[in-house]
Amino acid sequence: MSTREVFTNWPSLEASDQEQLLCGTTQHSLSVEFPPSAMYRKRFLKHIISELEKNGTEIIEALYEEYTHLLSLSTEDANTCFKIYPNPSGKDFVLRESTNMISQGTTGLQTWPAAFCLAEWALENSDLLRKKRIIELGSGLGFAGMLIHASCQPEKYIFTDCHENVLHLLQSNINLNYSEKTEDAEWDPVVGLQGCYQLKSRATLCTLALNWETVNESDLSLLSQGADVIVAADVVYDSSIIPSLVRVLSAFLRSKESIAFIASTIRNIDTMNEFTGALEEASIEATVLSSPTNKVFVYDRSTPFRILQLRS
Ligand SMILES: C[S@@+](CC[C@H](N)C(=O)[O-])C[C@H]1O[C@@H](n2cnc3c(N)ncnc32)[C@H](O)[C@@H]1O
Repeated sequence: MSTREVFTNWPSLEASDQEQLLCGTTQHSLSVEFPPSAMYRKRFLKHIISELEKNGTEIIEALYEEYTHLLSLSTEDANTCFKIYPNPSGKDFVLRESTNMISQGTTGLQTWPAAFCLAEWALENSDLLRKKRIIELGSGLGFAGMLIHASCQPEKYIFTDCHENVLHLLQSNINLNYSEKTEDAEWDPVVGLQGCYQLKSRATLCTLALNWETVNESDLSLLSQGADVIVAADVVYDSSIIPSLVRVLSAFLRSKESIAFIASTIRNIDTMNEFTGALEEASIEATVLSSPTNKVFVYDRSTPFRILQLRS
């Protein structure tokens, strides 16, 4: 009987059906290799157990054991999980993420809604990104970049972030998703740039430690020569980082050919107005672009999004 058929008798399940249910869900090889959040698995099993109990069904030991195992997980295991995201151009992406929006002093250990919005926009505007050298600011864990890399075939894609733990997890997510294609390939430091690595056999991907607040003008100038398009998602959320973000954008947009696409969730219109005001002061022209029309990813759409195109 398949896991789906098991549910036709629900909530009356024989012992063998209960075993099958476990094998097809929390003990499935995919779930064991890339476990979803412990909270999700706990809620799922708690619901199953309570429905079976309500129905007076005798519950197998393995079901209780699996549930108590989840209750006893270490904080580290309970605080990270794997998420699987569809990739319309190939194999789904698997990302290790934090279960908390803010953890270890950063917002970068989870994929934020504007990353999905940017990815959906990129799918509908791939011509603007194809064969370009793209740099992403505040990449976080890399979902938008991987999607753009897979769907828009840029000449080069540089992920950047400032937080050490974010860069570490970003790198391991890239390795996880590109391991098949890269096989024995190694990450090499890029000459002249601190903290920048590129993959030997796929030099189209790169990660770089870039802090808007501390990056010096000469590194910015060197980097800006290597990028035609700047992208970012959910980086306009804190007034205090707007001046340094705009300084970095100005440097990248110094060349008239350069262009930036910034996707933001509008949680606080004052912060967004502050950002657009700072862009104006820096003589950066901002145009609001149409939002993507196709819903490809499942994410919280309750707060409005804005995609800005920037040019100097
Ligand atoms: C809200 S998260 C968005 C992450 C990712 N773009 C997404 O949408 O899922 C903001 C990101 O900006 C990065 N960030 C914040 N301040 C930064 C700075 N001064 N320099 C570089 N990156 C920064 C954070 O580390 C974090 O990854």
